[in-house]
Amino acid sequence: MLHASLHVDTTPIAPVHRRTFGSFVEHMGRCVHTGIYEPDHPTADPHGFRGDVAALVRELGVTTVRYPGGNFVSGYRWEDGVGPREQRPVRRDLAWHSIETNRFGLDEFMTWCRSLDIEPMMALNLGTRGLAEALDLLEYCNHPSGTHLSDRRVANGHPRPHDIRMWCLGNEMDGSWQIGHLDARSYGRKAARVARAMKMADRDLELVVCGSSGSSMPTFGAWESTVLEETYDAVDHISLHAYYEEHDGDLGSFLAEATDMDRFIDAVAATADAVGARLRRPERLSLSFDEWNVWYQSRHRAEAAARPTDDWRIAPRVIEDRYTVADAVVVGNLLISLLRHSDRVTAACQAQLANVIAPIMTEPGGPAWRQSIFHPFALTARAARGHVLRTELRAPTHPTERHGTVPTPDAALTHDERDGATSLFVVNRSTDTHLTLDADLRALAADTVTDARTLTDTDPYAVNTMDAPDRVVPRPAQDVRLEDGRLTAVLPPVSWTVISLAPGQDRPTP
Ligand code: AHR
Repeated sequence: MLHASLHVDTTPIAPVHRRTFGSFVEHMGRCVHTGIYEPDHPTADPHGFRGDVAALVRELGVTTVRYPGGNFVSGYRWEDGVGPREQRPVRRDLAWHSIETNRFGLDEFMTWCRSLDIEPMMALNLGTRGLAEALDLLEYCNHPSGTHLSDRRVANGHPRPHDIRMWCLGNEMDGSWQIGHLDARSYGRKAARVARAMKMADRDLELVVCGSSGSSMPTFGAWESTVLEETYDAVDHISLHAYYEEHDGDLGSFLAEATDMDRFIDAVAATADAVGARLRRPERLSLSFDEWNVWYQSRHRAEAAARPTDDWRIAPRVIEDRYTVADAVVVGNLLISLLRHSDRVTAACQAQLANVIAPIMTEPGGPAWRQSIFHPFALTARAARGHVLRTELRAPTHPTERHGTVPTPDAALTHDERDGATSLFVVNRSTDTHLTLDADLRALAADTVTDARTLTDTDPYAVNTMDAPDRVVPRPAQDVRLEDGRLTAVLPPVSWTVISLAPGQDRPTP
């Protein structure tokens, strides 16, 4: 048995940002078609949105959704997806070699968002397109009425402006795979031109400039520096993307992937601040981690290489990863990292929402179910409230192949001053040993454990399937004790746990 102590400092790091619990809907595979949208499905509403999926999206607690891509956006014409459906063109999507029917587009997405109280994060095509089309899209979406494009929106059945606040200036423009890929200087200048013109229309927009599509990109660091030299004054956020997977059966390294996310965030924040200092700007940019998840990319690459070419299909089944218990523990840990960095990361999107590397799976005409990774997301989105507090772990460490020596547990703690609710999120990254964690919570007036759940299993590779959708679920945590404000919890190996606490009845809350 290992032992760790959590020291809680009541100084807040930052508020829990609503946008931390974002997701991503791309026109890719079956995320839109037969994912969130399937007009013939028995649960479909009059708009064609799947009701069973909508219920799961609500339960997941998704707050913000990035749309319509992803790599897809760099070849997309938004006009194709608005107006009468029978007049919408069918097009090739070069990014995923699929056919896009355009039966679902911008206005449908906005109707779907509104029905679920989700904030849209709209991505612009800066691959095949640029400034003029971005301004057109902004006018169509946000201008009240009385102009050519806003009146088109009204004529299409949307009298109220969509009022989209957050806009991504392209997608992964550093990647050679991106349609219209640019070098950092050219992209920075293009993004700055678009950003300045958009803010002439509405200075309160929040604009996200593309950072690197991963910390392993050869241009990582230099890309951020150059792009921000061009855009620092015109944008509000810089993006980060990261996908993780278990390599060659190395579970120990995989469980510690959040240490990579920690380093990535710290490096981008430091790079942005260095540019700000050079430019003598007091304002600090915020980070938008707008694509993150577990994704078995190397497995898909190998499968794709072995398969005969079979493309230009509508909504094909692509990258439909089935997630394990270990994947869910890693996802829970990535959320802990995002929360701990709430002073810099103010928005994040798990990629993607349905079917494509997703927490929600569906069968056309059939059921929808929760993957293992659904659970840590839903429980964190529900329990993380108020402020993230500073914590320090005195904990054992262990060696890993890919990340060196890492602390065995990792944790984040939130506290809501309004009702005194406290939530502790913690992982045990050991592959084989239990860990006892104690925490002195007396300063937080935590008198009662209101909920304590653990996601773990004797088989770290167990998965949920259509026939066994609840094989992997969080269960009441064993061995959680609270005595006089001192908490003790025994955490199994390969586990993610949430413990929620509240003040006692007789304790006044501020
Ligand atoms: O989420 C899948 C893809 O991953 C996105 O289209 C792209 O932006 C990233 O490389």
